Amino acid sequence: MLTRRAHPSSPHLSFFVIENREQRKTEIIECNAGITSTYRRGLYASVDMPLDADVFQVPSGYNAPQQVHITQGDYDGAAVIVSWVTADEPGSNTVKYGKSKNNLELSAEGHVRQYKYYNYTSGYIHHCVLKNLEPDSTYYYALGENCTVRVFSFKTPPVPGPDVPYTFGLIGDLGQTSDSNITLTHYKANKDAAAILYTGDFSYADDYPNHDNVRWDTWGRFIESSAAYQPWIWSVGNHELDYAPEIGETTPYKPMLNRYPTPYKASGSTEPQYYAVRRGSAHIIAFASYSAYAQYTPQYQWLQAELQKVDRKVTPWLIVIMHAPWYNSYNYHYMDGETQRVLFEAWMVQYKVDVVFSGHVHAYERTHRISNIDYNITNAKCSPVSNNNAPVYITIGDGGNIEGIITNMTEPQPSYSAFREGSFGHAIFDIKNRTHAYYTWHRNQDGNAVAADSMWFTNRYFNPTNDS
Ligand SMILES: [Fe+2]
Repeated sequence: MLTRRAHPSSPHLSFFVIENREQRKTEIIECNAGITSTYRRGLYASVDMPLDADVFQVPSGYNAPQQVHITQGDYDGAAVIVSWVTADEPGSNTVKYGKSKNNLELSAEGHVRQYKYYNYTSGYIHHCVLKNLEPDSTYYYALGENCTVRVFSFKTPPVPGPDVPYTFGLIGDLGQTSDSNITLTHYKANKDAAAILYTGDFSYADDYPNHDNVRWDTWGRFIESSAAYQPWIWSVGNHELDYAPEIGETTPYKPMLNRYPTPYKASGSTEPQYYAVRRGSAHIIAFASYSAYAQYTPQYQWLQAELQKVDRKVTPWLIVIMHAPWYNSYNYHYMDGETQRVLFEAWMVQYKVDVVFSGHVHAYERTHRISNIDYNITNAKCSPVSNNNAPVYITIGDGGNIEGIITNMTEPQPSYSAFREGSFGHAIFDIKNRTHAYYTWHRNQDGNAVAADSMWFTNRYFNPTNDS
């Protein structure tokens, strides 16, 4: 029988008492119990914003480019993929760009595509790669033609290097409710964040009858105010599958792959859903929770090879993003990522991954540095233990989508769980140099400067102190 007792000297510590009645022996395991936040968000329905919401507004002008978004276009950040949609006719595939807003002297030619999904036909979806960009520079770019030209800008990252400061935002499971709007607005108020690491589940169009792809369009217009100006680095969730044989749609990821390209070939991947990029002082691996990953599959072999390519002397920070969490103490999607954990957790430890970000569970949780890699069927070693070579696992699926917040947690809080709270929000991973990064989680109800959870990360390669 296992009983948790409060620690007499510290409110943050507790211990388990194991009473073995047959042997009449009592063992005491002392552990850090972690924090279950007492904050309670007001309960109200999570509903998508109406089609005429201001953030979904179609830009004015004939065939105006809309749903503009960018992502990294190569391995090291010297290229950008620009994507946009035109509604009336294909129009121009050209992107004019340059470092002066008044002199867009360069141009690149993209391509256009369209897709059908059940009774929906998409607009004209354009993708164009801008290559050989100078590092650490602001570029302006123009889309459209004749009287309907729209101009945006982005900043390229510095050349990858060990002490390049770089600030990433973390958003997952965003959707398009009023909570989603608060999350994105809250995130944009942080002027230092230069790129988003997105942990999957985009529009939640598949929650509508026939996966109404109009909600893919509204989502594209919704995120434009951020995604047109800084890259969103995608990992893919279950809501991107759009696999619906009951209506004849049997091509997985069809809307997502038509709309949101990734630079997968640059890292030797053979599928857009999983890939890696280097940006600043970070090596980012996007793992696909819903693409085949068992031994001998392309993703398994690619991940094995990619981890061997990581050079911590160039990119000290090794970050993995994926959708389904491996450590999750909510009563929702419990152990969804377990088979992946069993297959790959030993690699996360072997390669000293600094942090794994995931989504899927619509709440927030951060773990200590723990691993559970010793089990071999017969030895009964099947509990997570403290491991300084292991990543911190962070669930950030709290963007604010139509399916609502999760507050139902397993009790008692597992010893691996450092902090958990059922609120919407986003996070910031602020890399200072090769040894330190400051991480903060921001719940939507607080002011922009407030961190509801925070942690100083020390780098697993250059400074592996006990930081969690
Ligand atoms: Fe999900």
